[in-house]
Amino acid sequence: MGFSTDAIHAGQIPDPTTGAVIIPIYQTSTYAQQELGTNTGFTYGRAHNLTRQALEKNIATLEKGKYGIAFSSGIAAINSIISLVKSGDHIVISENVYGGTYRLFELIVKNYGIEFSWTDTSNKSEIENAIKENTKILYIETPTNPMLNIIDLKMISELAHKHNLISVCDNTFMSPFFQNPLDFGIDIVVHSTTKYLNGHSDVIGGVIVTNNEEIQNKIRYYQRSSGSIPSPFDCWLVLRSTKTLAVRMKQHEKNAIEFANFLQDSGFAKKVIYPGLESHPNHKLAKEQMRGFGGIVSADFGNLDYAKKILNGVKVFTLAESLGGVESLVCQPYSMTHGSVPKEQKEKLGITESLVRFSVGLEDVEDLIEDIKRALN
Ligand SMILES: Cc1ncc(COP(=O)(O)O)c(C=O)c1O
Repeated sequence: MGFSTDAIHAGQIPDPTTGAVIIPIYQTSTYAQQELGTNTGFTYGRAHNLTRQALEKNIATLEKGKYGIAFSSGIAAINSIISLVKSGDHIVISENVYGGTYRLFELIVKNYGIEFSWTDTSNKSEIENAIKENTKILYIETPTNPMLNIIDLKMISELAHKHNLISVCDNTFMSPFFQNPLDFGIDIVVHSTTKYLNGHSDVIGGVIVTNNEEIQNKIRYYQRSSGSIPSPFDCWLVLRSTKTLAVRMKQHEKNAIEFANFLQDSGFAKKVIYPGLESHPNHKLAKEQMRGFGGIVSADFGNLDYAKKILNGVKVFTLAESLGGVESLVCQPYSMTHGSVPKEQKEKLGITESLVRFSVGLEDVEDLIEDIKRALN
């Protein structure tokens, strides 16, 4: 089936009781058991929920995976990966990831005896140098947040197989519409469904997709035990949203290309970063492993005062954390999404105070361009 057909139908059978075409919100905490030891397979809301299962099947299909596990947030999905390691194990991870991922791993999980090497994962030999006897996971984000570096998925999966590591890719920025890491041999895909998958800025959620039964069993067991499940209503909202993912992503990209070209041609920014621009250092790799370039554009405006004119002056864009919704958002990663990353690390990565990240939404792109011109003049 094509992507849009799957997005609309996968995991969604008409309700057997009424024939309702849209899966109901099974808002229940528990299930009646027929007699002691006999039940329908549904025992308790933390373990089983049909609305959640429909969402899991839907996103797993879009990610070309067998198993989906939906979570209460993207960061809860990321945290569940820790259930695959134990104290004394080591994880090699991209030095440029979402700031909350850095905070979770470096400032919290590390205290439990799990070691992290923050590595330039676009560089094969740096990864090989970082791998040790106790390394268990190779974790990447591509494109990276907010610098939009592209990491070679094939190279990552080959290295992971060679060294017997579990490879993980945060695919939030591309959504399954533009990129399917499992197709490249990656073991686990993670998403913040808060972003493009839900796309309407009204849900916090996450999902894991894998083809590996053992991994899904471990992560599901961990989730059942630790309780980071999404509500049935939130699952229903995300399921409603994936139906329009293809049309939304096409329009996000169309607007983003026009917006990035405008920023580049106007000379307003010192540097414009968008994988779809030929000036992007990984443009060729982006074309090889992605089916599009997404809706996020980052730009460095050279100095903070100038960047502030945009951050404080826009009226169609909203100054806010997050991305991937129908409305355009703008943020300063330095103090907002990457506030927990140490200053030196941010400087090394190019996350300056004058770097602005644009989540280009679905408004008329002329209005977005006009908004920037107005803010700067
Ligand atoms: C790439 C990426 N991964 C994960 C997350 C965390 O997701 P959530 O906010 O749903 O917990 C974010 C949040 O901004 C993100 O940008």
